[in-house]
Amino acid sequence: MSLPSITREDLMRELVGRVAVICGISVAIFLPTAVSGNQSVKLPPPSYKGNVSVEAAMRSMKSVRNFSGAPLSLQQISQILWAANGRLPTDAVSGATTKVTPSAGGLYPLEIFVLTGKGSVESLPEGIYLYKPETNSLSLVESGDKRNLLAYASLSQMWMTRAPATIVIAGAFGRTTSRYGDRGVQYVFMEAGNSNQNIYLQAAAMRLGAGTVGAFNDAQVAAVLKLPGDVKPLLLVPVGK
Ligand SMILES: Cc1cc2nc3c(=O)[nH]c(=O)nc-3n(C[C@H](O)[C@H](O)[C@H](O)COP(=O)(O)O)c2cc1C
Repeated sequence: MSLPSITREDLMRELVGRVAVICGISVAIFLPTAVSGNQSVKLPPPSYKGNVSVEAAMRSMKSVRNFSGAPLSLQQISQILWAANGRLPTDAVSGATTKVTPSAGGLYPLEIFVLTGKGSVESLPEGIYLYKPETNSLSLVESGDKRNLLAYASLSQMWMTRAPATIVIAGAFGRTTSRYGDRGVQYVFMEAGNSNQNIYLQAAAMRLGAGTVGAFNDAQVAAVLKLPGDVKPLLLVPVGK
């Protein structure tokens, strides 16, 4: 069996990728953010009705990696974020406030972020945003297109950069382990899977595509997103057309 030979170009590509990760992440860690974290963007309300059945969405869904680069509307990203971790109306009988995924003990440890590029989501400046389910809004974490850094932090899976938006499912583990101890760790992983599946189904129902990225460097992704120490990235989900 002959092994593929490594060319000078391959080595250069690898080197450029590594330098970009180191430089980009160093900048992400050491420079103060250009924009303060309290800017927020109100999202259009999600729709509770669609034209595609759950069965049809399940049948058509698959992991998508070849995005066209066409932009998403604010309505579309709002719908996807709601599917990931949105709130449901308060239960009239029990008074409980629930979300679109089951959650161990109703503790809801997931935090959802979205990364966008210039014009990649209509009327949303490029940046990293935290989704706020309670107000159906986005809170700016940092301005600027960081999708490249995220792809480099994901073992250079550069196909990710063609998605107009990448959702990051992160877990605040302490929220669940404070009640369930070590067992809570697996609950948080399971809940990330629930959220990812919802995104896939919602995307399929809207004739959009989603992919899953679990192969990434945890520390590098956490640095790009400026995650606090107790919040860990779990899955990256590029979405688009
Ligand atoms: C936990 C998890 C991690 C994954 N990580 C990656 C990844 O890093 N890169 C990638 O291209 N696909 C990734 N995938 C997608 C799988 O490759 C994909 O789901 C599988 O090939 C089945 O294809 P389908 O989703 O189109 O049915 C991941 C999927 C899961 C569930």
